[in-house]
Amino acid sequence: MATETRIVRIGSRELGHFEQVGGEKLGKWHISTDPHSSQSMEALREAARELKTSDIPVAFPTETVYGLAADATRSKAVKGIYAAKGRPADNPLIVHVSDLDMLRRFLQPRDDKDDTNGCHGEGNTNTSSQTAPSCRSSSSSSSSQKPADPIPTIYQPLIDRFWPGPLTILLPNPTPSKLAPEVTAGLPTFGARMPDSPLALTLIRLANAPLAAPSANASTKPSPTTATHVLDDLHGRIRLILDGGPCTVGVESTVVDGLCDPPAVLRPGGVSLAELRSCPGWEGAVKAYKDAAEDGRKTAVAAPRAPGMKYKHYSPRARVVLYEAAYRAGADGVAVEDWQRVLCLPGGSSTASRMGTIRTRRWKRVGGLQGGGSSLVMPEVVADAGLATTDGGEALFEVREGELRDGDGKPLARILDIDLGDDTRGIAQGLFSALRELDRRQVDTIFVDGISDGDDMAAAVMNRLRKAASEIRV
Ligand code: TXA
Ligand code: MG
Repeated sequence: MATETRIVRIGSRELGHFEQVGGEKLGKWHISTDPHSSQSMEALREAARELKTSDIPVAFPTETVYGLAADATRSKAVKGIYAAKGRPADNPLIVHVSDLDMLRRFLQPRDDKDDTNGCHGEGNTNTSSQTAPSCRSSSSSSSSQKPADPIPTIYQPLIDRFWPGPLTILLPNPTPSKLAPEVTAGLPTFGARMPDSPLALTLIRLANAPLAAPSANASTKPSPTTATHVLDDLHGRIRLILDGGPCTVGVESTVVDGLCDPPAVLRPGGVSLAELRSCPGWEGAVKAYKDAAEDGRKTAVAAPRAPGMKYKHYSPRARVVLYEAAYRAGADGVAVEDWQRVLCLPGGSSTASRMGTIRTRRWKRVGGLQGGGSSLVMPEVVADAGLATTDGGEALFEVREGELRDGDGKPLARILDIDLGDDTRGIAQGLFSALRELDRRQVDTIFVDGISDGDDMAAAVMNRLRKAASEIRV
């Protein structure tokens, strides 16, 4: 499918706001009628029309990463996502809602006589008789008159605290469902999230249907955090990319399952385990994913409960060598023997050889060479390779260029260096962008200074890095 791909910038003027419904602050997303936002609004209307009428997905920003959206009620449109990304069909998609009103509509079974519920019925045959593996039920009704809230009570404190935001909750998919069966890949649950982006919320509301959306990268690549990243991967495969600037969180949402006891985190992300555990009912939340780092080699993850966690992921073209924070505690750079080994790889020891370093907390020098050695000298900065910027000119981080020399001063390799700083949020925000930037500058190997992960957001950073790495130093 060869298609021309356009990037359309959407201004950050107010596009809408939440309106309380029944005392609930996330009741309904109300679209603003401010005439100043009309250009952006026109572009969003066009995108919503695409979503309603075409089967080619539309890329849009969220606070975590850019998503690739289709109307979650239309089978053909959802299939368009899998086709554009080259994504395996057994990996379910997250359903993005604009407000709780919309979410509740999709927790009710489809009524074939009623087509005013945002469900178009096209190709929707999701009548699986499977039931959710739920050991919890929806909120019980306090009075026999009032129908029970279809949102399970366990999620109430999470919704109050983290929505809109980087948290995906698993919900029972009703039978028959209004969602196209391709969204859930045969599972009895669906993952739902309300993104913290007025642009995304307005697009969903204009489309008047939840949007099924995975990250808008080509399958296996690092997730995109700018519109240009999306273009690099999906050029010619989609028609429209809405550009809302760089994502503020930079790693994907945390996926949680509150339908089982104890509740579980299936994928670490923008909301940390510590934050989750501080919510009523979530004190005993467990980690139900496993990173492949245990013995210093890459090992397969055993039976992941979020199907997407088993795939190769987040990988740039270059080889990634990850240094765990515990590796040679106190070491302030890449071990000399690692540099030497890379230089001995085929084509390694020529001046054309290019390597990348991503520094965080421990590595303080450009290139991060630890100590130097008899045969290698500290890399020297030869140039500021410039700022990595978005189309809108916003600076993401600086890229420096250095040169690694042998003891006689002979150049051995060029080093492209990025410092993400020592703040976890800043590291998360810049991580995928840094991997992509070094790929763009054609490095062969990227050495990354890992950070220690406990129950904070560093867990998401290290989970992505462990998946991206070909080698892990522990
Ligand atoms: O931040 C995000 O979550 C981004 C933005 C665009 O919202 N989306 C995203 O989607 O990362 P994706 O498709 O790249 O990852 C979705 C993850 C996968 O690991 C998938 O297996 C899991 O969520 N997932 C979705 N529905 C599920 C379900 N019903 N049961 C278990 N895991 C599910
Ligand atoms: Mg993804």
